[in-house]
Amino acid sequence: MDCQGKTHTLKTLEQVRGKLSEARSISVLTGAGISKPSGIPTFRGKDGLWRSCRAEDLATMEAFLRNPRLVWDWYLYRRKLISSCSPNPAHYALVEIEIKVNDFLLITQNVDGLHKMAGSKKMVELHGNIFTSKCLNCGFVREDFSLEYEEMPLCKKCGGMERPGVVWFGETLPEGAMESAAASASACDVFLVIGTSGVVQPAASLAVLARSSGAFVVEINFEKTPLSEVADITLTGDAAEILPLVVGDNL
Ligand code: OAD
Ligand code: ZN
Repeated sequence: MDCQGKTHTLKTLEQVRGKLSEARSISVLTGAGISKPSGIPTFRGKDGLWRSCRAEDLATMEAFLRNPRLVWDWYLYRRKLISSCSPNPAHYALVEIEIKVNDFLLITQNVDGLHKMAGSKKMVELHGNIFTSKCLNCGFVREDFSLEYEEMPLCKKCGGMERPGVVWFGETLPEGAMESAAASASACDVFLVIGTSGVVQPAASLAVLARSSGAFVVEINFEKTPLSEVADITLTGDAAEILPLVVGDNL
């Protein structure tokens, strides 16, 4: 890294690296920003998905019941897009942290599966996974990598109608997900908040919980967010550049 004129940044990076290497327990909350360098659009901000699409028409149960084809088509379009993307250095840096520290949990709001693809194992997908389908009738969830459907998909167990296996607005999170996430956030030494606008609950509350439980909170984002006030340190910039720096040895 070019250090000229960046002594403060360098010092901050070193501080974060020190905190990470001393920590016995690390939790991480990620959002769409960590997958942006892989080519996957975020939700808010310029070029965000919610700029051109209305969540009310595409990401609610009401929308699905009104027009299942439209909603499925949007998710299949996103599946196709994600299928052509790969994890980036930020995803891999988190795998490195997981290997180094005993007590670790990655909590992601992302449904793209890129953390898993990178090799993360100890993780909770708070908003589900786009490569799953779930039966409206019996709740059976299956892996589903289909990129198109001629007919609307039906449950292999009971024949009921299937929906994308993601959490929609107004829905509760997958069973046990928030409990594991909160337990980890309240017990960790360091809590990383990466690439999230911090406006969607209950995910954002995890950073507040971590901080009030005594964790050192580090945010990595291009912009200031409501969680910047909660964080002990905000590293401003691209997670795919910053994370490898605080994990690796090459500051
Ligand atoms: P958002 O789109 O709300 O926010 C993405 C954040 O990532 C912004 O704060 C960006 O500044 C930041 N960002 C973008 N590129 C970055 C990069 N290369 N490095 C670091 N930061 C970067 O996405 P989320 O916070 O994930 O929910 O949104 C939360 C939830 O809202 C999503 O899971 C989704 C959405 O509605 C559901 O679909 C239920
Ligand atoms: Zn079923």
